Amino acid sequence: MRTPSTVVVTGGAGFIGSHTCVELLEHGYELIVVDDYSNSSPRVFSRIQRTAGRPVHAVHWVDIRDRHALSRVFDRHSVDAVVHFAAKKAVGESTRNPVEYYDTNVGGTTALLQVMQDHGVHDLVFSSSCSIYGDADRMPLRENSPARPTNPYAASKWTCERILSDVCRFRPEFRVLSLRYFNPVGAHPSGLLGEDPRGRPANLMPYLAQVAIGRRESLRVFGDDYPTPDGTGIRDYIHVMDVAAAHRLALDHVHEGTGMRVFNLGAGSGTSVLELVAAFGAACGRPIPYAVEGRRPGDVAALVADSSAVAREWGWQPKYGVAAMCRDALRFQRLNPFGYEDSADPVAVAAGADVQTPE
Ligand code: NAD
Ligand code: WQD
Repeated sequence: MRTPSTVVVTGGAGFIGSHTCVELLEHGYELIVVDDYSNSSPRVFSRIQRTAGRPVHAVHWVDIRDRHALSRVFDRHSVDAVVHFAAKKAVGESTRNPVEYYDTNVGGTTALLQVMQDHGVHDLVFSSSCSIYGDADRMPLRENSPARPTNPYAASKWTCERILSDVCRFRPEFRVLSLRYFNPVGAHPSGLLGEDPRGRPANLMPYLAQVAIGRRESLRVFGDDYPTPDGTGIRDYIHVMDVAAAHRLALDHVHEGTGMRVFNLGAGSGTSVLELVAAFGAACGRPIPYAVEGRRPGDVAALVADSSAVAREWGWQPKYGVAAMCRDALRFQRLNPFGYEDSADPVAVAAGADVQTPE
């Protein structure tokens, strides 16, 4: 197995990106991170270094839509492959500002592809999303289930997949792995890395964690009249450590195939909102207060993955269950009640890494 040694990670300071950086560093990859910190903090790099035992090689403060700045990054390093996380990801926000979502997610991806092409870099691992399936009628979802995006965020991810598919079709030197994550949650078991949303969390798990430590009073459960056993929405939660491990496998294997290949990444089992509330209560040793409200617009009853393709292909299996997801999310929240910005951090930001100012 040949492993590409130097990898550009766009969005490497974010939730999934930071955990993936640790996994890749632990497996010998040299990393060049590109991030504009629009939804993250450069403080994460000292934690990545502490967790992995070595630093990312370089960090560039660049908006991926700025192809000149991005091009300079590729000029400076000899790049073998790219993992592309950088995107905007809040479904609700995407309905209020669709142009921004298409600009960042689609425009950012085309800028990256142009720069990769100009620099002869052709191996890409892309962050896609279960949201592209929309309101599906048959579970579990397979990679060939129809895409029916119901909001601009999901549509932007689906548009990226179609662009990537065309690029691979007409420029066969490109090899792309698109990973459709279901609901990544949890945190690094050390408590050093985790999900650090800005403002009121839009997603269930970080909200539960903030209620558990008393930062918020009570969870709002969005609807208990879905056609599910307890009436609340069912999702396929997957530990971020398992998602990170899948990216390492993807990079190990990206050069083996041809064209574009797509894989679901889920645990393959559904958990309802009330089941997750109970699991979180068990993790923190006291019940989580909640109140049922009306359905959240755009929500669907259930989304569960069939991830057998990635298991067959690379032997990937999720290692962490729902109890571990809750335990690790809680540990991170307890150790970092207000996220990275406000927690004491004795190691200088990005110690050992070449942190750039905006380019
Ligand atoms: P995140 O917001 O924590 O990370 C995204 C990172 O990209 C952040 O560090 C942000 O600052 C950076 N970024 C955003 N726009 C940028 C730009 N124009 N230039 C440079 N950097 C930019 O999100 P995440 O949860 O880690 O998600 C990573 C990827 O996975 C995204 O593409 C997201 O759409 C996808 N995804 C996430 C989930 C999820 O539930 N977290 C599910 C499916 C897919
Ligand atoms: C899970 C369940 C809510 C918050 C989103 C994106 C998807 C993907 C993963 C990026 C639902 C309920 C939530 C709350 C609640 N991300 N809920 N109270 O919507 O399944 O998926 O993240 O690609 O694209 O759409 O995740 O965590 O927001 O919701 O009752 O305060 O929890 O209604 O049933 P979702 P979520």
